[in-house]
Amino acid sequence: MSLVIETDNLTKTFDSRIAVNRLSLQVQAGDVFGFLGQNGAGKSTTIRLLLGLVKPSSGRVSLLGHNLPQHREQALRKVGAIVEAPAFYENLTGLENLKIFSSLTGTVRPPRYREVLRWVHLSGRENDKVRVYSHGMRQRLGLAQALLPQPALLILDEPTDGLDPQGIREIRQLLVELAHQQGLTILLSSHLLHEVERICNRIAIIDQGRLLYQGTVQSLLEHDVQFRIRTDRIEQAFQFLARDLKLPVFRNGKEHLYLKLPEADIAAVNHSLVSQGFQVYEISRHASSLEDIYFRLTT
Ligand SMILES: Nc1ncnc2c1ncn2[C@@H]1O[C@H](COP(=O)(O)OP(=O)(O)O)[C@@H](O)[C@H]1O
Ligand SMILES: [Mg+2]
Repeated sequence: MSLVIETDNLTKTFDSRIAVNRLSLQVQAGDVFGFLGQNGAGKSTTIRLLLGLVKPSSGRVSLLGHNLPQHREQALRKVGAIVEAPAFYENLTGLENLKIFSSLTGTVRPPRYREVLRWVHLSGRENDKVRVYSHGMRQRLGLAQALLPQPALLILDEPTDGLDPQGIREIRQLLVELAHQQGLTILLSSHLLHEVERICNRIAIIDQGRLLYQGTVQSLLEHDVQFRIRTDRIEQAFQFLARDLKLPVFRNGKEHLYLKLPEADIAAVNHSLVSQGFQVYEISRHASSLEDIYFRLTT
């Protein structure tokens, strides 16, 4: 398995404040990887560390198999990034901005401009001055810029921040297209859970610089399945399950009991309840929403 991004106990402190705390991330080739955390969690600092823009206090970063900082140039050769809102020459066109940018970063064959402009859905607008671009168009031009050097990896810090719902949807669709059609690996940070949930196959959740979860969205949800039970004499049923059977049972309101058990064990619980004379009206699978889990993890 090839890792496109690997960090090992990556740590960054500013004075006495720990912004990134022993963070070990693994991003695989082809991942659309969501890097989630509330404001101040350490996302931007981590991304700056990944790009070699700040120096780690300790720990290691490797991109596409090259270690930073020793091999920064090779490591970043196939990486496109947007770290802050990209700055453009307002009185030049989108295309002129791309040309200036590429003259700074390396040679680009002219057909490449058309290609990246098409990918970001700016074809037909490339000769308009950036001054008249919407915020969403600017973000897409930034993306075009990041795509110019044919990166294998895109690193985007809050790419939809400040966009309206339409702009958010455009960027989201675009990133999915890039991942699927161009085979790019993408890491994007966000503080919005529902945003990464839609497009990312794997996520990491950080809080105060520490990793709380890393893996698929699916397994995070599966990890948090509970069974909801409704019986008569709910109080006695609760006592029976908690005291006699010593099961992890919770009450939520007066109506339901919740049990956190593997599915294989739930039939036996049902049997025990029935044997004790309880009327079992309902046993249902009850998955927490990702939102619930996220807030439980980060608050
Ligand atoms: N250059 C810096 N100097 C001092 N503290 C910083 C600096 N950059 C970030 N921090 C602090 O590090 C923490 C993480 O910030 P940041 O990485 O920007 O979080 P996020 O991008 O998740 O909102 C915050 O407490 C922030 O104040
Ligand atoms: Mg940030």
